[in-house]
Amino acid sequence: MAKTKTVFMCNECGSEFPRWSGRCGACNSWNTLVEMRSEHIKRANAHMAGHTSKATVLNQLQSGNEVRFSSGIKELNRVLGGGIVPGEMILIGGDPGIGKSTLLLQMAIALSRNGLKVLYITGEESLQQVKMRAERLDGTNEEIILLAETNIDQILSNVDKLKPQIVIVDSIQTVISSELGSAPGSVSQVRECTGQMVRHAKNNDVAYFIVGHVTKDGAIAGPRVLEHMVDCVLYFEGDNHNAFRVLRAVKNRFGSTNEIGVFTMESKGLLEVENPSALLLERRGSATIGSIVTTSLEGTRPVLVEIQSLLTETSYGNPRRMTNGVDFNRANMLLAVLQKKGGLFLGQQDAYINAVGGIKVNEPAADLAISLAVFSSLQDIPVDPGLVAIGEVGLTGEIRSVSQMPLRISEAEKMGFKRCIIPEQGRDSIKEKFSIEIIAVKNISEALKQLNRLRN
Ligand code: TYD
Ligand code: MG
Repeated sequence: MAKTKTVFMCNECGSEFPRWSGRCGACNSWNTLVEMRSEHIKRANAHMAGHTSKATVLNQLQSGNEVRFSSGIKELNRVLGGGIVPGEMILIGGDPGIGKSTLLLQMAIALSRNGLKVLYITGEESLQQVKMRAERLDGTNEEIILLAETNIDQILSNVDKLKPQIVIVDSIQTVISSELGSAPGSVSQVRECTGQMVRHAKNNDVAYFIVGHVTKDGAIAGPRVLEHMVDCVLYFEGDNHNAFRVLRAVKNRFGSTNEIGVFTMESKGLLEVENPSALLLERRGSATIGSIVTTSLEGTRPVLVEIQSLLTETSYGNPRRMTNGVDFNRANMLLAVLQKKGGLFLGQQDAYINAVGGIKVNEPAADLAISLAVFSSLQDIPVDPGLVAIGEVGLTGEIRSVSQMPLRISEAEKMGFKRCIIPEQGRDSIKEKFSIEIIAVKNISEALKQLNRLRN
């Protein structure tokens, strides 16, 4: 009998090696090689045998007019780039308990109310559990077809038989192909089953939503190749302490990856948040020390975020710096600029910087607000609660213009803010008229002066 050959495949990048080693030679990640028998690989490729391909000239291609159907959830449509494209393969990842199953069931209910045929396949829960969740979501009257199944052949033959327009698979880690010997959730299983579903989706114009579990460090479990195989990868984020659940696209072949969808988890399922700014600023009081609002842009959508800072004298050793929702290195850079160009002495100060509400602000546009919050806390200057600061801080202390300024300012105006500190640079290109008072500053020391002036 022929000896079965084994190869070792990297979980991260999918490269194959004849021998095991601690580190992947292709992507340099540690401890990601897993053993696979080569017959599995051969079998997975067997369907390609005898296949001939034909080349086509671009200008002779018929452009299919793009059909999208609404998912029935506005925030989800926004992230998908307008709606679901037939034949699209969408992967949704997120921590356990974040609400992936709830979101998909809610979507299934909305879709079936719009007259679409949905097949919901669950490998994690019993049908009774799904029913109980549907009861909470007020959707027990819908004609969603449920299937508790984990075998990929069974799943695909059911899809063929029932001909739904949308298939939901919760989760990919429970789906198995009996042809492979490995355990459910292993690299080879996840890869093979996803591959089969992708082919099926493309050939039959069925849209698939598949749930993927995430590993401890937050990536979707299974090989990174999973992300390459699908059309759209969404992450559902948030934590149990915060009201927000944010749906973010990290890859989208049919739309932009900048958009976010915002939800809150309520007793009757996920509620869409059309105006995140209002929710984020809800509990904001009167003038406070070390707190200032900035407008961050999430895709095309401006979101007002409160930045807080606390400085205390270092009691021992090196000063401590801590950030939450704000980039750590960026914050350190801003502290250095404040020290050198703003004339603040921060060498003996512990600094804590926080973006309120569990939202992450990774934009340079928040620089000015962070710097002013630090200044306010250091000097005990109460910040006018009607003030917004927008601008990037450069290493020479200059305040630089950021993208989409009019959009950001008008969001602040809409939310009832009275004053806005913005960069002098690019000020003339803002043609719109605002009723909000605009204070333009050139550099960091001017900005600090303005904050001092406004307290009086
Ligand atoms: P779930 O969708 O099961 O999470 P995932 O599939 O991502 O693991 O969401 C579970 C959490 O949401 C659970 O802790 C209960 C809560 N929840 C509500 O608060 N309200 C609801 O209406 C529903 C259905 C769930
Ligand atoms: Mg679930």
